[in-house]
Amino acid sequence: DAADIEKGTYPHFMLKEIDEQPLVMRRIIQQYKDESGKLKVDEGVRQAVKAADRLYIIACGTSWHAGLVGKQFLETIAGVPTEVHIASEFSYNMPLLSERPLFVFISQSGETADCRSVLVDVKQLGHPTLTITNSPGSTLSREADHTLLLHAGPEIAVASTKAYTAQIAVLSILSVDVANGKGRTLTFDPLQELAIVANAMEVLCAQKDDYEQIARDYLSETRNAFFIGRAVDYYVVMEAALKLKEISYIQAEGFAGGELKHGTIALIEDGTPVFGLITQEHVAGHLRGNLQEVAARGANTCAIVSHDQARPGDQHVLPEVHPHFSPLASVIPFQLIAYYAALHRGCDVDKPRNLAKSVTVE
Ligand code: G6P
Repeated sequence: DAADIEKGTYPHFMLKEIDEQPLVMRRIIQQYKDESGKLKVDEGVRQAVKAADRLYIIACGTSWHAGLVGKQFLETIAGVPTEVHIASEFSYNMPLLSERPLFVFISQSGETADCRSVLVDVKQLGHPTLTITNSPGSTLSREADHTLLLHAGPEIAVASTKAYTAQIAVLSILSVDVANGKGRTLTFDPLQELAIVANAMEVLCAQKDDYEQIARDYLSETRNAFFIGRAVDYYVVMEAALKLKEISYIQAEGFAGGELKHGTIALIEDGTPVFGLITQEHVAGHLRGNLQEVAARGANTCAIVSHDQARPGDQHVLPEVHPHFSPLASVIPFQLIAYYAALHRGCDVDKPRNLAKSVTVE
């Protein structure tokens, strides 16, 4: 059928969509670049962020994970206070709002019912709204005041990959634009750094065999797996764990390295796989320490390390990208590891049991 044709030579949409990420990144750069070569969002969005004293990001699943990375950008690059909420929680447990909130809905499909319910509520309260979506014309896009598009092309696999990196890229561009508008000096050239990210993504996508081997070595027998990170790496490992559990049904948990000793370390047995992501200088040493702690208790550890934090002996080193943008590259190995783990276990990669691509019930 039509869907099979679109898959081309790929066995699964998920693998195709993972591979499309460099292309999507370049497309986003093109779409958000103005004549002078600056990254810009449209005037209405810029004004809406400028008028707000706090952003409230509302999302579910993978989009929520992208929102967590987005918060990091908005606060560190643009200096805009930002909160990130799970839509279904927010709808009955609304926090105390600031005076001039802007609500930012992140939704690949633009149809997620839990997000829509919050949108309806906050519109009733008279608050401005922005939707970041891959689907022009979707409900959340039509009903919000403003829209930013992901330009990722249709995402068919239930497990989201290219939409996640597209969401992060668009949030980074929004942050850069707001920072420029406020006259904040950036310590990096965003256009150049995002172009470098696209190249790094290409390098990672060409390393499939390495990640297939990791999936074989660490995940073929196991019932569970842990992923640890600190700072922004914590957000990425939450997504890593979600990818793995969604499609391979291995029980997976992503958590903050410092929390290990407060509970999860009790679950470490001989051979338990623990993946550590290390890309941020100020926490790299601590995360290495955490990996040693679990290794000493028998865990089968695997460190994925950024270029600038690599030490002799590190086996899985990411291509060089600016530390701000590391999530755009560091998630790809985990997407591939999840893909191959599911494949080796004979799971239905594109259509995992019990899950839907877009959830239109609350
Ligand atoms: C479903 C999908 C997830 C997705 C989530 C949010 O649970 O299976 O992959 O992250 O919905 O979807 P959205 O379209 O709002 O980003």
